[in-house]
Amino acid sequence: MSSELVALLYLVAGVLFILALRGLSSPETSRRGNYMGMAGMAIAVVTTLAVAAPQSGLSWAMIICGIAIGGTIGAVIARRIPMTAMPELVAAFHSLVGMAAVLVAAAAYYAPEAFGIGAPGSIRVASLVEMSLGAAIGAITFTGSVIAFAKLSGRMSGAPILLPARHLINIALGIALIACIVLFCQEQTPFYFWAIVALSLLLGVLIIVPIGGADMPVVISMLNSYSGWAAAGIGFTLGNTALIVTGALVGSSGAILSYIMCKGMNRSFISVILGGFGGETAGPSGDGEQKPVKLGSAEDAAFLMKNAEKVIIVPGYGMAVAQAQHALREMTDELKEVGVEVKFAIHPVAGRMPGHMNVLLAEANVPYDEVFELEDINSEFAQTDVVYIIGANDVVNPAAEDDPTSPIYGMPVLQVWKSGTVLFNKRSLASGYAGIDNPVFYKDNTMMVLGDAKKMTEEIAKSI
Ligand code: TAP
Repeated sequence: MSSELVALLYLVAGVLFILALRGLSSPETSRRGNYMGMAGMAIAVVTTLAVAAPQSGLSWAMIICGIAIGGTIGAVIARRIPMTAMPELVAAFHSLVGMAAVLVAAAAYYAPEAFGIGAPGSIRVASLVEMSLGAAIGAITFTGSVIAFAKLSGRMSGAPILLPARHLINIALGIALIACIVLFCQEQTPFYFWAIVALSLLLGVLIIVPIGGADMPVVISMLNSYSGWAAAGIGFTLGNTALIVTGALVGSSGAILSYIMCKGMNRSFISVILGGFGGETAGPSGDGEQKPVKLGSAEDAAFLMKNAEKVIIVPGYGMAVAQAQHALREMTDELKEVGVEVKFAIHPVAGRMPGHMNVLLAEANVPYDEVFELEDINSEFAQTDVVYIIGANDVVNPAAEDDPTSPIYGMPVLQVWKSGTVLFNKRSLASGYAGIDNPVFYKDNTMMVLGDAKKMTEEIAKSI
């Protein structure tokens, strides 16, 4: 394959990736965006194999066998994983990107001739810099993602682990890392290469362990960004433009997503990028003394909603767990039939991944023009008769506005308590992801409709 054709095919793949990102920016075009991304990736993989396979000394049978094994494992995991476990899966996959970056850097260091970057002991300085950055970012991404995976999947406690003088330790490790990179570029010895990897692996752990559960969403998109930059760094080492372009797209889109989420949660972007933020205050948990709440049935909820002029629905993680989106759509159809105006309010971090609620509502064919973001709908609660909260908790917690000791203090929340009546559906009075009590349960205008989100919503729809 001529180098011009390779460059052209990589360009086509790059353009398809950009169109994929554009498509993913709206639920209406997201499916098309996914197809574009898949087509771009297929072109990039086939082109790379066509170029690299003949030089690699591997037979096509071995390559196809490797792809089949990896592809089957990926397909089985992707089919089995529930939507609610997607963030931990993403974290696990990021760790593989990080590890791949470290391995490619090690391969380039030990066999520089194969990469056309010089001979052992006399590798080009520019390649040494790329290699050390790829290895460092890759190793940080690897251990950081493994810790994020362990925290999100409950394999280790989601509570922040705060080492004394952790900022000083991180700064000292950061300085040692830079010193090792400089010395590696001068001396090119294996000691400094592996010192870079070891320090970065440690830094990855130390950056992520102090981060508390409530801030994990930002961490996931930040690691997404890191994995992109690691891939771009390796793209330079391999002289592969597709990898540089794709890595830069992942890196920058991950950084933009982190920024949007930081804004959604009112966190400082810089402190997130540097790690070790958030979760430093432990709020009161929901297990404390029980205060009185008003309980209601599906019939009560149906009565209140069908006699309202306007109802706003606030979905959260519990709707995803119960897979209640179809029942919810049926319930809203019933309400609209009796003349009630229905809107959906989506918090930027509702659920367990960015866009989680939008995806589920789109799956149930909820019209996009009924779905509103927090900043567009928050002012409407005061003029709303009934709010139906279905499996959400932290995203409607007024402690974020009123209680400076709360771990979610400062996060913008949906101001549901300003509406006429709040119907709060969840299974118990337990806390949500951030592990804190929600004062809305105990407000005079709140009625708790306890039960599984799907079952309760089906019963309400029947009663309407
Ligand atoms: P949460 O605060 O986690 O609350 C969800 C509630 O759903 C729980 O209190 C639970 O109460 C209820 N629930 C669980 N299963 C249910 C079922 N089958 N039927 C009915 N209710 C059920 O959810 P949220 O309001 O969506 O907030 C999201 C939280 O997750 C935030 O703290 C956010 O920072 C964090 N987070 C978000 C992301 C992203 S990117 N979105 C990623 C990771 C973490 P019961 O047990 O009483 O039923």
